[in-house]
Amino acid sequence: MTQAGSNGVRTVVVPAAGMGTRFLPATKTVPKELLPVVDTPGIELIAEEAAQAGAQRLAVITAPRKQEIMEYFRNFPELEHTLEERGRTEQLNKVRHAAELIRPVAIEQDEPLGLGHAVGLAEGALEDDEEFFGVMLPDDLVLPVGVMERMAEVRAQYGGSVLCAFEVPEDEVSNYGVFDVEEPEEGCPADVRRVRGMVEKPEAEEAPSTFVATGRYLLDRAIFDALRRITPGKGGELQLTDAIELLITEGHPVHIVIHEGKRHDLGNPGGYIPACVDFGLSHPTYGPHLRRTLHRILAEHEVEDSQD
Ligand code: UTP
Repeated sequence: MTQAGSNGVRTVVVPAAGMGTRFLPATKTVPKELLPVVDTPGIELIAEEAAQAGAQRLAVITAPRKQEIMEYFRNFPELEHTLEERGRTEQLNKVRHAAELIRPVAIEQDEPLGLGHAVGLAEGALEDDEEFFGVMLPDDLVLPVGVMERMAEVRAQYGGSVLCAFEVPEDEVSNYGVFDVEEPEEGCPADVRRVRGMVEKPEAEEAPSTFVATGRYLLDRAIFDALRRITPGKGGELQLTDAIELLITEGHPVHIVIHEGKRHDLGNPGGYIPACVDFGLSHPTYGPHLRRTLHRILAEHEVEDSQD
């Protein structure tokens, strides 16, 4: 089990109670968090990231019909015994890995009442003296891994809450939640800005910046009180960003860390397929063959396209 890191992130909350409608029909019976990137479910990649950030506890928000997510973190003695008997050590280690990474705690969200509602349920999972906690959305792979550690450093310097941002080209901002940020102060690290607010999917000309939100948050405990004071927004859902905005208007410091790297959105097939290709190409066993196969598939499609 991982010990608490020096940055003090003890709990990472993983909201995983959404309906996954963009991934139907697969998500009729398989939680999208268990869909594999090559051979490893997205939720295990998130658990690894949380453990690397020094967290001891993974507070997983689950839905009543998504029990398989917590089962994934349990030991499977029969399977392990069979693999052991057959000398399949590599597979045995893979099967045991999730249960050894971090301590999972299940919190049930009876109805999908929004990301804000899901995060609010995690209050009881924190210890009394835990002043802040991480949130990692399992749909979002943020690479290279390690941004939560940087966010904790920024919290140690500025206090309050810290969010992760990516810089995107101007013509792509309308797909995202965009941060309205202050000009960097003298001496402020190049990757940090103070947040004034957020605009959801603005037109490119109206976007306050090119810094867009991702699924990594380091939130002060004050967020729970803010979540109790906001009202449901569109679709009757409690929005996490509304609670963050409320904190900002009350003077609570909120900063972004601008992460240099890449991200994959596993929440829909359009983002999931490139993630599998990216991880597959880097995989020592499957990479070389996949590279050749992709070249062949692309060539075939080019021929087909030229005939259209
Ligand atoms: P999304 O809106 O991306 O996930 O929520 P979803 O609702 O599963 O997706 P679609 O739109 O139906 O395809 C972001 C994250 O918040 C969680 C989701 O599981 C996802 O990880 N979430 C969302 C909850 O835990 N509870 C909710 O009520 C809503």
